[in-house]
Amino acid sequence: MLEIRDLHKHLGGKHVLRGVNLTVPTGEALVIIGGSGCGKSVLLKHILGLFKPDSGQVLVDGEDTVPLPERELFRVRKRFGMLFQGGALFDSMTVADNVSFALDEHSKLPASEKLAIVQKKLAVVGLKGVEKVYPADLSGGMKKRVALARAIAADPDFLLYDEPTTGLDPIMSDVINELIVKLKTTLNVTTIVVTHDMASARKIADKMAMLHEGTIRIHATPDELYASDDDVVKRFINGLASVEQMKEVWGEEAEKRMAK
Ligand SMILES: Nc1ncnc2c1ncn2[C@@H]1O[C@H](COP(=O)(O)OP(=O)(O)OP(=O)(O)O)[C@@H](O)[C@H]1O
Ligand SMILES: [Mg+2]
Repeated sequence: MLEIRDLHKHLGGKHVLRGVNLTVPTGEALVIIGGSGCGKSVLLKHILGLFKPDSGQVLVDGEDTVPLPERELFRVRKRFGMLFQGGALFDSMTVADNVSFALDEHSKLPASEKLAIVQKKLAVVGLKGVEKVYPADLSGGMKKRVALARAIAADPDFLLYDEPTTGLDPIMSDVINELIVKLKTTLNVTTIVVTHDMASARKIADKMAMLHEGTIRIHATPDELYASDDDVVKRFINGLASVEQMKEVWGEEAEKRMAK
C-alpha cells in the first residue's frame, strides 16, 4: 500500500505541493489528473524518492521513505517500475540493454538469464525480435512499449506511469491502456497513472484523483468524479477553460464567449 501524507514542496520559488494526501491500496489503480504544470510529475518523483519534500510522508507498505538515505532508498526503489513522461529510453543503447537496465542495476544475473528475462518482458508488451534495434528506429508506440518492458523488468510491486499515451494515436493508446490493466490484474501491481487522456483514465482507474493548486481536489471512483458538481472538476473533464483563462485569450469578450 502507498500512502502520501500532507506532502509539501516548493520548487523554483513556487509552492507546488501544498499538503497532498492520497492512499492507494495494494493492487488498486489510481489515475491522477490535473492541469499542465500543476505538479503531477513532481508528485510521482516524490513517491520514487527522487525529490525530498519540504515536509510530509511517503509511506510504502507503512515505511516512511522520506528520511531514508540514498542507499536505503535504493532498496525501496527496487520495488518500483516507472514509465517516465516521454519514455526516456537511452538512445545509445539497444532495446535489450534498455530493458535490462533495472536488472543490471539491482542484480547480478548472468547475461543469458538477463536476455531470457528481456525477451519475456518484451513478449508481455507484444514485441518480438527487436532486441538489437536502437530506439531511434522504433515508432512512438513501440518506444512506449519498450519503456514499459523496462519498467516491469525487475518485477515491481508498484508501477508509476507518467503520461503513457501522450503522442500516440487512439488505437495505440488503447493498446497501452490494455497493457496497464493487464499488468495490474495479472501481477496485482499497485498502479498510479498520470494522464490528460480522459478515455484512458476511465479505462484504467479504480479511483481517480485530481491535483489542483497543490492539493487533491477530489479522490473518488470514475463514476463519482464524472458526476461531481464541483465546477473545477467539471471544467477539467469537459475540457473547458476557466473565466480567468478565457480572459487571457479574449479579454473583454471572454464572458460573451463562455455563454456560448
Ligand atoms: N526541478 C525543478 N526545479 C524547479 N521547478 C520545477 C522542477 N520540476 C518541476 N518544477 C516546477 O513544478 C511545477 C510542476 O511541474 P510538473 O512537471 O510536476 O507539472 P505536471 O503537472 O507534470 O505538468 P504536465 O502535465 O505539463 O506534465 C511546474 O511549475 C514546474 O516548472
Ligand atoms: Mg508532467
